[in-house]
Amino acid sequence: MSTSSSASGEAGGTWAILVAAGSGSRLGSDRPKAFAGLAGRPLLAESLERLDTSEWVDAIVVAAPPGWEEPAILLAEELVASKVAAVVTGGATRAESVRIALAEVPEDALVVLVHDAARPLVDDAVIERLLARLAEGVDGVVPGIAIGDTVKRVERGIVAETIDREALVAVQTPQVFVAERLRAGYSGEVAGATDCASLVERTGGRVAVVAGDPRLVKVTTASDLELVARLVEDEGP
Ligand code: C5P
Repeated sequence: MSTSSSASGEAGGTWAILVAAGSGSRLGSDRPKAFAGLAGRPLLAESLERLDTSEWVDAIVVAAPPGWEEPAILLAEELVASKVAAVVTGGATRAESVRIALAEVPEDALVVLVHDAARPLVDDAVIERLLARLAEGVDGVVPGIAIGDTVKRVERGIVAETIDREALVAVQTPQVFVAERLRAGYSGEVAGATDCASLVERTGGRVAVVAGDPRLVKVTTASDLELVARLVEDEGP
């Protein structure tokens, strides 16, 4: 399903895809993760409002969990999120949800930003860093955080290798792409892809890394939700 909503749906510019279709089974909530409560409203509200008010984003496509399209549209209306051009039904995996949402992005869009609703605290500072690097001539840019722990590859319970962590980063969203390169990444097999950048890399794209933001915590468990709720409260109204 593709449901047009309040839509300004402007052509060209930067389109955001907000993937919110995960079940969130590890959260232990009676509803999909995007509709779990965060500071008195659905988790989805936080990232949707932030992207809608971002000066860098022109239009938004939301991938909602199956059966939750109407609540997502109502939420966008309540937030007066006027950049929401479409709400689509997400797929079985994150990559499928992105692919479905990408079909709603017009051909003349220049840049596509993809963000996980599970990371509520997206802000303009990180978006600006990503877009500035993209403008320097790469195909995609991701935010990365240095890894503090020692990382080991393990086979059947035994360490096979200790990996040099200096060369590693943990990658977050939002991720930004030249629209045609993201489409090329999604034109083939997407099984197993846990982020968009890996598909762009796989199809020959050059992806750069800029500094991520520790506040872009991904909500997976109830304790992540509590942590993000505290961060939201600290920010105040
Ligand atoms: O499950 P996980 O937290 O890794 O998902 C990352 C993001 O992808 C979340 O915002 C989730 O809602 C989204 N997702 C999706 N469709 C799926 C699975 C995950 O939109 N089938």
